[in-house]
Amino acid sequence: MGLHRTQAERAMAGATFEEVDVARSYAARAPYAPALYGRLLEVIPGRRRALDLGCGPGKIARVLADPFAEVVALDPSAAMLEAGQAADQGRHPNIAWVQATAEDYADEGRFDLVAAGASIHWPDHAVVFPKMAAWGATLAVMVAEPVRQPAEPEAWAGFLTRWLAIMAERTPGARKAYNPAGFAAEGLRHEAWMDIAGRERFTHRFEQSVEDFIDAQHSRATWSRTAMGPELSARFDEDLDALVRPAALDGRLVLQIASDLVWGAPRSAPRAG
Ligand SMILES: C[S@@+](CC[C@H](N)C(=O)[O-])C[C@H]1O[C@@H](n2cnc3c(N)ncnc32)[C@H](O)[C@@H]1O
Repeated sequence: MGLHRTQAERAMAGATFEEVDVARSYAARAPYAPALYGRLLEVIPGRRRALDLGCGPGKIARVLADPFAEVVALDPSAAMLEAGQAADQGRHPNIAWVQATAEDYADEGRFDLVAAGASIHWPDHAVVFPKMAAWGATLAVMVAEPVRQPAEPEAWAGFLTRWLAIMAERTPGARKAYNPAGFAAEGLRHEAWMDIAGRERFTHRFEQSVEDFIDAQHSRATWSRTAMGPELSARFDEDLDALVRPAALDGRLVLQIASDLVWGAPRSAPRAG
């Protein structure tokens, strides 16, 4: 079994983002650290055009739309773009919401910044990186995850193992998609296509209800409510509630979120080795 998913497997998993429920529950995911944006604006001097690649509900696009003259919010999922426009409520008329994959998107202009938040692993790098290089953009790759889940590490690992096995039974081919070593290796594939200028981690405090924490898990392709069906979703919610509620105070969890920022110049060909 290879470590990397094929482009076709990636496209199949990516289709989850078409689901309205996934787009809706995405709002409950933790935001990127405010300090990350501050640093990003320090390292990107231009303020003309920014592209939010795989924008989802436009979390990043909506922040960048204040300092940048124009932001293209790009995503193949209509459900995500609708959620983004609903959240923005027309506050940023300088955001162009574009429904396309990064592979299909064509733009003759230049970009100061391409921001890819938890999305750089989706498109075909051989198609997208040469395009970004031609745009003259700096690429910023961003990911935000809790430093530690609100449960004992062993109990959290046990929960994941249990539910990954349940989902693997349900979804053909899921064992390959859920291979954690595969995800870790895949997570860094894009770095061969970048001349990295810097990387930094920003940690901030984020508070949310147990219900929102559970809802946020369903925004992940692995735990989408459509993939689980109503009965398994309800069991998953009960199981997760029992696991994390002891860490809550008055039904609210306090999480430390680590937001990782890696920036640099996209290459038109990957580095050898
Ligand atoms: C995990 S979400 C990240 C959303 C947002 N960037 C954020 O940081 O909150 C990944 C997004 O990538 C999008 N995506 C999947 N395949 C893509 C592709 N080939 N080109 C561009 N975006 C893609 C999905 O539709 C989804 O909205």
